[in-house]
Amino acid sequence: MADALVTRLQTLKKERNAVILAHSYQPADIQDAADYVGDSLGLSRLAADTDADVILFCGVHFMAETAAVLSPGKTVLIPDGNAGCPMANMVTPRQLREWREKNPDAVVVTYVNSSARVKALSDICCTSANAVEVVATIPKDKRVLFVPDRNLGHYVRTKLGRENMELWNGFCPTHERMLPEMAVESRKQHPGAPLMVHPECRPELVAMADFVASTTGIIKHCHESPEREFIIATEIGILHPLRKQNPDKVFHPLTVVADCPNMKLNSIEKMVWALEDMEPVVTVPADIAEQALQPIRRMLEIG
Ligand code: 13P
Ligand code: SF4
Repeated sequence: MADALVTRLQTLKKERNAVILAHSYQPADIQDAADYVGDSLGLSRLAADTDADVILFCGVHFMAETAAVLSPGKTVLIPDGNAGCPMANMVTPRQLREWREKNPDAVVVTYVNSSARVKALSDICCTSANAVEVVATIPKDKRVLFVPDRNLGHYVRTKLGRENMELWNGFCPTHERMLPEMAVESRKQHPGAPLMVHPECRPELVAMADFVASTTGIIKHCHESPEREFIIATEIGILHPLRKQNPDKVFHPLTVVADCPNMKLNSIEKMVWALEDMEPVVTVPADIAEQALQPIRRMLEIG
């Protein structure tokens, strides 16, 4: 049955001239069926460059929205229209507008885990892969307002030693579940295994890390490292590409509760339905897309 669905998916993909992009937190079978698996930054670049007519974006809503902004002529589908990101909903356009108005001289840096409307009110975007690089391009005397992730913001502020950076109080509920005491316990159970941490984790956990990076950064590092065993502190979907690419290495999740329920709303069945029915389509109003494109482009020019 599962094979028949994957065959149907591949047939529909050809008929629709579609490309399937999947985030590395997606269920394993979706990652295996995708044309490309990556992090938010890599998938944005692929969405901007593809020749396909249809992008089936297996991830959460803000990622599909970014693809729609970058590829206005294409049809962007998401398997489950309810696959949102709670962190992206933690700052609204009205809240950001008010914050900006109170700080007219500051530069607004917006993590891509945000709505297109919020991006449209921003000066520059970043992902977890390039946040440090992006903020480093802003003159040191300029104050920075960072939305919505307080943890990624804290990581950047610490890394750059930049005090004039104010953080919105948003967070990822999945990464927030990972606690420093879990790392203490895990290190006892797996002595010597380096601790890989995504910067959406709490600052106290990030401070304990052997390596901090985006999902793609963690995958690349584990592949290139001579170490054989790792503790992984990010969403557990990443274990699939890690194990697939490194059959001789061992990966221990910091905790199996780091499972993003939104990412897991997508399924192979829903991918088939999306390509059959050509919905749910993710769209962004033209005026918002035009404004959101500027901060996204500025980010892509940097790294
Ligand atoms: P990446 O930037 O590593 O793709 O992470 C996106 C995300 O949603 C993390 O929770
Ligand atoms: Fe959003 Fe967190 Fe899920 Fe990433 S893991 S999509 S930040 S809720």
